Amino acid sequence: MLLLQPPVLAAATAGGAAWYVWSCLASPLWKVPGPWYSAFTSLVLRYRELRAERTTYIHQLHLQYGPAVRISPNEVAFASVESIKEIYASGGNQFYDLFMVYGRRTMFSTLVKDDHAKRKRILADRYANTNVQRAAAIDGIHERAGRFLDRCTASVGKSIDIFVSILINLHNYAFDCVSHHLFHPYGSDSLRNPQDEEIQKQVTFDDSLQNRLIKHHYPTIHRAMGSVIALFASPRETPLADELVLSAASRSDPARFTVVNRMQEKAHGLDQTTIAAECLDHMAAGIDTTGDALCFLMWELSQPRSMAVQRRLQQELRENKSRLVSPGESGGGAEQQQQQPKRFDELPYLDAVVMEGLRCFPAIPMSLPRYVPRGGRTIDGYFVPGGAVVSCQAYSTHRIDQDVFPEPEVFRPERWFAGEHEMERKKLFFAFANGGRGCIGKHLALAEMKILLQEIYSRFTTLPDYTCMSDEDMAMADQIISSQPRAKKCLLTMVPIDVE
Ligand code: HEM
Repeated sequence: MLLLQPPVLAAATAGGAAWYVWSCLASPLWKVPGPWYSAFTSLVLRYRELRAERTTYIHQLHLQYGPAVRISPNEVAFASVESIKEIYASGGNQFYDLFMVYGRRTMFSTLVKDDHAKRKRILADRYANTNVQRAAAIDGIHERAGRFLDRCTASVGKSIDIFVSILINLHNYAFDCVSHHLFHPYGSDSLRNPQDEEIQKQVTFDDSLQNRLIKHHYPTIHRAMGSVIALFASPRETPLADELVLSAASRSDPARFTVVNRMQEKAHGLDQTTIAAECLDHMAAGIDTTGDALCFLMWELSQPRSMAVQRRLQQELRENKSRLVSPGESGGGAEQQQQQPKRFDELPYLDAVVMEGLRCFPAIPMSLPRYVPRGGRTIDGYFVPGGAVVSCQAYSTHRIDQDVFPEPEVFRPERWFAGEHEMERKKLFFAFANGGRGCIGKHLALAEMKILLQEIYSRFTTLPDYTCMSDEDMAMADQIISSQPRAKKCLLTMVPIDVE
């Protein structure tokens, strides 16, 4: 009873508060630069996350405090070559509980390093560039790029919304390409079939960011108030996509280059639900990312300020025009090969355009959090204790060092040809992350992006439709993993090159 007396309660509260303040001041993270409040509370960070502004908030802090910044009492954001190397050389983070599928841990949500490596060993073979470049795999991408192009051709005379227009949008293109690589011949055809487009929308328009963040940071509140939270922050449900992956995982004859074919090999001992869960994850990972990266890039290429870039790209493509040649088709003698146009992955300016697009508009611009292992680590000169959360975000690593990326806000593909700082540029390029948990779909994504750009800019000049769009509409807005245009639209006009 004595414990409940007001003076005792007041003394206990004051003692608790004093202990808390002392522990914050005594923490090694106190030495890391950052706003004063971040040493005591994570509430400001949580508020920015719930408003989908984490990326820009952290970037502002980097601009103010430098490449190492304390963002909450237990969390530090970094943006340097050394920190990328130190943090992503080892990995595993409870954050990925947010992404469990059918109650299973997929490669992405696996916390244990060895389990992750084991799953990656199974999958890596199908995402290796040699497999992505196989004729059957690459021809599928050409075919889907051709379908997208047909729709562009049909749109001439009016603008199209490459973000959401029915059937003709970049999410459909990315969906059809990734599901081709996962399941062929049981992939989607959302560029032509409205029912398949519905599946894409279910996976893509995922408004569960807030719900998942509350579940992760405040599990007790989420358990107690789950149904109330769902009223304003919906949980994620994807019944149509579930049907597609479960059905594809049960087929016994997918093409040899596909991911599902590899996972079905008996030696791996994976059941159908595990295979379906893994594939659903890859499908989700491969739609918004590639689709939105292309969307931001095509918007930028269409700007009057980027017209010289667009012209140079068209010229390179024109010089290598004719039908696109895949490695499977490129047999014949040396003489014949010399006469052939360069393939999509041999064009230096196209490559620079894609790199610069991913630098300026990384599809996953936000932090990739990791726990510091037991014993702590020194990162960028600061000791960070074990259990603290550390991260880098591509949005900042692509901008913060202005010796390496002069005028970082300017879209300038030519910067990728400069001899100076070449190594640093590559090391700070973080669009696909790196280390053991870097993007497994990188080669597939690059092939999809380059092939589509080659198809479009060989035939069209793209222009922005400012009658329906403003620059603010295209500001990057955080989603659960990737970032998309704030207004969820991107209207462009396609002008055939031969009528210009
Ligand atoms: C431009 C397109 C893409 C970008 C910018 C991108 C970026 C990334 C990044 C930054 C990560 C690391 C996430 C983390 O560490 O938290 C990642 C992981 C991953 N990505 Fe991509 N991605 C793209 C396309 C794709 C595609 C087409 C696939 C197809 C399957 C894919 C599949 C995955 C998977 C499965 C992981 C998890 C890897 C692991 O846990 O080891 N991504 N991606």
